[in-house]
Amino acid sequence: MTTFAIHPKIVCMSSAADFCRSYKIGAGDLVFVSQRTRQGAFAGLLDEALVVDYRQFGPGEPTDVMAESMWASLQGRTFQRVVAIGGGTILDVAKLFALRRMVPIAALFFGTLPAEKAYPLLLVPTTCGTGSEVTNISILELTKEGTKLGLAQDALYADEAVLIPELLQGMPDQVFAASSIDALIHAMESYTSPKANAFTRMFSLQAMDLILSGYQRMAAEGAAVREALLSDFLRASTLAGIAFGNAGCAAVHAMSYPLGAACHVAHGEANYVLLTAVYKAYQERRYDGSLRALCVHLAQVLDRDEADVFQRLETLLTVILPKKRMREYGVKASDIDEYVQMVITTQTRLMSNNYTVLDAAAIKAVYQSVF
Ligand SMILES: [Fe+2]
Repeated sequence: MTTFAIHPKIVCMSSAADFCRSYKIGAGDLVFVSQRTRQGAFAGLLDEALVVDYRQFGPGEPTDVMAESMWASLQGRTFQRVVAIGGGTILDVAKLFALRRMVPIAALFFGTLPAEKAYPLLLVPTTCGTGSEVTNISILELTKEGTKLGLAQDALYADEAVLIPELLQGMPDQVFAASSIDALIHAMESYTSPKANAFTRMFSLQAMDLILSGYQRMAAEGAAVREALLSDFLRASTLAGIAFGNAGCAAVHAMSYPLGAACHVAHGEANYVLLTAVYKAYQERRYDGSLRALCVHLAQVLDRDEADVFQRLETLLTVILPKKRMREYGVKASDIDEYVQMVITTQTRLMSNNYTVLDAAAIKAVYQSVF
C-alpha cells in the first residue's frame, strides 16, 4: 500500500500586511511571533491579538519546559485561533497550543495524553527549512530525556500554511544556511526512505533541485544573490516538508538529535554534521535502488561522477556553511556510546526509515567519523 496526502491548504501571499488583512488577524488570535519579526514586517499589524514572544521564555530552540512556561503564562486568557509566525521550532510549539490539552508535554509525547485538535491553526514560516507548516510533526527537546523527540499526530496539522517570501528577507546567514541545508536533508532522507513512493519522490526531487541550483548560483555569483532566490528556497522547504511528512526522515535526523540537545547546535547545522557520513555508510552497505537513483540524480545536478557525489556535495555545502566536527561543539569521545544508546532507544520512529539497517556498531562508526 502506498499513501500520499497534503493536508493543510497552501496559500502564497505577497506581504505580511496582505496576510493580516486577508485573515483578519486580531482579537481572538493567539499569535506566536518574535519581537524582531513583530517590529519588522508585522509592525502595527498585531496590536489587537494575544501575542507570545517565545524568546522571552528562554534562549535557543524551545524545550518542553519553555513550552509549559508559555502555556502557564496564558492561563485565564482566551483565544479562538492559533497563529505562528517564525522558524520551524516555534511552529512546532504552536501546534501544541491548538490542542485541547497539551500539558504535561511529556505525557503527550509518550502517548498517555491524547492529541485532540481544538483550535484552527495558521502557520507562517520565516525560514526556509523545517517544512513544519505542512507536517503533522512537533519536535521538542524533552529536558528529562536529554534529547529531542518528535510527536507525529494528525491533530498537529495546520489548517493553512501561508507562504510569504518577504518574511525571509534579511535572514541571518547562519539561519539561512542551517535551515536550507535542513530542507535539503528532508528531501534526501525522504527520497531514500522505504516509505517513499512516486508521489513523494517528485516532491523530494523538485526540492533538491531548487536548493542545489540556488547554492550553485550563490557559489558562482556570491551569497548576496540569495535574496533574489528566497521564494525558490521557501517553496523548496515546503515541497521537502510534503515529501518527508509522507515518507519520513531517517538516521541523519535521528543521530543529530543528541548532538543538538547536548550542545545546543541548531537543528539544520547538527544534521549537516551527520549528512554525508550517514549516506556513505548506506553506500558501503547497500548501493542499489533509490540510493543509487539519488546518487545518479545528484551526479547530474552537480556535474560529477556518481562515485564521488557526496564528496562534491560536501564541497558545495561548505561554501554555504563551513562544516565542524562534533568535538568542536564540545562533544567528548566518551559521549559517543551514550549517543548511540540514545539513538537506538529513543529514535526508532526515524531509524525505521533508514535506507538500510544501521546497527549499533554502524551508528558508532558514523559518529566516530565526524568526531
Ligand atoms: Fe529537519
